[in-house]
Amino acid sequence: MKKILFAFITLSLQIILGQNGRMIIPSEISKQSLNEMQEMGLKLKTSDIYSPNKSSLNDAVIQFNGGCTGEIISPKGLILTNHHCGYGAIQAHSTFEHNYVKDGFWSKSLSEELPNPGMYVSFVRKIENVTNQVLKGVKKDMDPAIKQALINKNIKFLIKTYPKKLWQEVEIKSFFDGNQFYAFTVENYKDIRLVAAPPSSIGKFGADTDNWMWPRHSGDFSVFRIYADKNNHPAEYSPNNVPYQADTYFKINIKPKKAGDFFMIYGFPGRTQEYLPAVAVKQKVDVINPARIETRKTALDVMQNFMQKNDTIKLKYTAKFARIANYWKKWIGETQGIHKTHAIDKKKEFESYFLKQVKAKKLSPEYLSIFDRFADLYQQNKDIELARNYLIEIAYLNNDLLKRAFDLYNLEQVYQTKGKEAFKAKEKKYLPGLLNSFKNYDSKVDKALFEALMKLYVSKMPVKYRNKNIEKLDISQTADEIYSNSILNQPDKLKKLLHKKPKKFIKLLADDPGYQFARQLIQDYYLKIAPDYRNSRIQINQLQKKYMQGIMAAVDKQIFPDANGTLRISYGVIKGYEPRDAVYYFPISHVRGIIEKYKPGDYEFDVPKRLIELYEKKDYAPYSNTGEMPVDFIGTAHTTGGNSGSPAINAEGDLIGINFDRVWEGTMSDLYYDKKLSRNIMVDINYVLFIIDKFGNDKRLIEEMTIKK
Ligand code: ARG
Ligand code: GLU
Repeated sequence: MKKILFAFITLSLQIILGQNGRMIIPSEISKQSLNEMQEMGLKLKTSDIYSPNKSSLNDAVIQFNGGCTGEIISPKGLILTNHHCGYGAIQAHSTFEHNYVKDGFWSKSLSEELPNPGMYVSFVRKIENVTNQVLKGVKKDMDPAIKQALINKNIKFLIKTYPKKLWQEVEIKSFFDGNQFYAFTVENYKDIRLVAAPPSSIGKFGADTDNWMWPRHSGDFSVFRIYADKNNHPAEYSPNNVPYQADTYFKINIKPKKAGDFFMIYGFPGRTQEYLPAVAVKQKVDVINPARIETRKTALDVMQNFMQKNDTIKLKYTAKFARIANYWKKWIGETQGIHKTHAIDKKKEFESYFLKQVKAKKLSPEYLSIFDRFADLYQQNKDIELARNYLIEIAYLNNDLLKRAFDLYNLEQVYQTKGKEAFKAKEKKYLPGLLNSFKNYDSKVDKALFEALMKLYVSKMPVKYRNKNIEKLDISQTADEIYSNSILNQPDKLKKLLHKKPKKFIKLLADDPGYQFARQLIQDYYLKIAPDYRNSRIQINQLQKKYMQGIMAAVDKQIFPDANGTLRISYGVIKGYEPRDAVYYFPISHVRGIIEKYKPGDYEFDVPKRLIELYEKKDYAPYSNTGEMPVDFIGTAHTTGGNSGSPAINAEGDLIGINFDRVWEGTMSDLYYDKKLSRNIMVDINYVLFIIDKFGNDKRLIEEMTIKK
């Protein structure tokens, strides 16, 4: 019995902590991880993967425009990333005559590559553990506020004094919930040009219906290029800039793939929370997710209703709909996955094991009450978490008019606290966004959203944070009045308002019915909800930091830090999965499947004629010689948002695919990674090249790459 129990505990420990291929800091690849990767097939040395001194794969991986990843695939700075990562740029260059979203874009020469103001990519040249420097002078029993101030001071000092080249920057990030710190030496290139993109019917094939799903068939890629000054250093856009010369870039390997093949994902995962206590996970899936799902469902239903009946509205709202639907769908999948895998029970098992270890190793007795304290804090913070989520979803993320009010309120505050010059500077920053918000806007839709969401607000907002004035209003009548009279619904008037002197601006706003209404919600947010939230977070974060410290001391196993937007590797094998009883999903999809899903004229499942022709002729060589063209594939690497666009790399370090999503049944992996169900989705590089070459007829790009057969 003992033996079984022991086996069970190590098993659950394995499940919680010891999974293969977690998100590893590239400068910290342990012997154990390396061995594991080598057993799975890896041929590279750790210094091939990351090195601060010589060219290594980290020099070919970039953070793309802050939120995605990309990879360098030629000595002339050519980049691959996802179509959904380049979408904003592709859309911005599209006009009625040149609709690159719909028809795709294939530049024919360097001079046809299109600049994208504001876009940037970052290389990570060096990673260093600087925990000792950051925690210098920090004493255990210090007052938390003083401690934090000292840490901030140390970080500031370190950034100022850290050795770096003129064109480099240094960032310091916290790991393991504030227990460790690393410095990243980065180079931010700012002249990034659009080179090529497939039509949406390829790049976004399956759109929202297939999003977060397997089997999948989208060619989710786009092509950009980095430009640099003549010293190959970062520079603002200039027609005189030249293609970035890359010492390191990915060779592309088009050998056919099969189940069991090793691969590595190298990129910038945004956020995971794998070390939360069971109560926190329970709150997320029982309280927070349902609230957010309901709010977004309300908004999506309203939009869909209009979109179905009116093509102009559909065009305007497609991107907005996709953005809102993306996480709506993710949260549903995540909630289901947590239940299905009994993740909360497994977390509880781990917690008992943790307490046993604390006793056995005679660690601080403080740990013995840690779960009771978590339980108290998560009990106390329930309303505040809910209130914050409802308010942000209702008054900021899902209604344009109210979001405008938020921006204007911030502008007003800048004037009140910092004066006229700061106001003008901020106004300049906000103006394009504010006016742009009318571009894909329909006043009827926004009004319907307002009504539906404010009704939800009145019934669902926790009483403590619900606005007593708004509660008494007739929402429909209020909506009528606001949408007929408010400046917030009139672009021309709003533009005029923004050119007034600050005092006049504030006076006019004060008289506006839309702003008067919104201001109540906004003040609730800034004056009540945000401060309460901050206080509650400080306590929870402190306890989480303590718990993390405890885990690191109690558990004799390698522990990997949660994703925090920094460069990581994770690894796995190409592998299918069993989504439910008696169903098995194979790990590779094919063009045949695109044809199976084809719905002529449909906005999600239409297929370009040229692709159908290529399919009928089986014109796939050299990217496939079997008569079947692969499209996407899945594997066991642990990834999250931000890994979009990450290179999938084979055992020799060649590029074999581009990461772009996860499977529905495994989306709980941000909280709990399940070996059986969690899979990342990649587009096969063979399909990417096939589309560039045979569909786009873009030999220029093919010739620029190094392709291994
Ligand atoms: N689910 C993928 C990622 O999170 C792709 C999102 C873009 N596609 C979409 N249909 N919204 O973020
Ligand atoms: N599509 C996601 C992104 O944009 C990656 C998918 C995921 O969350 O795993 O980063």
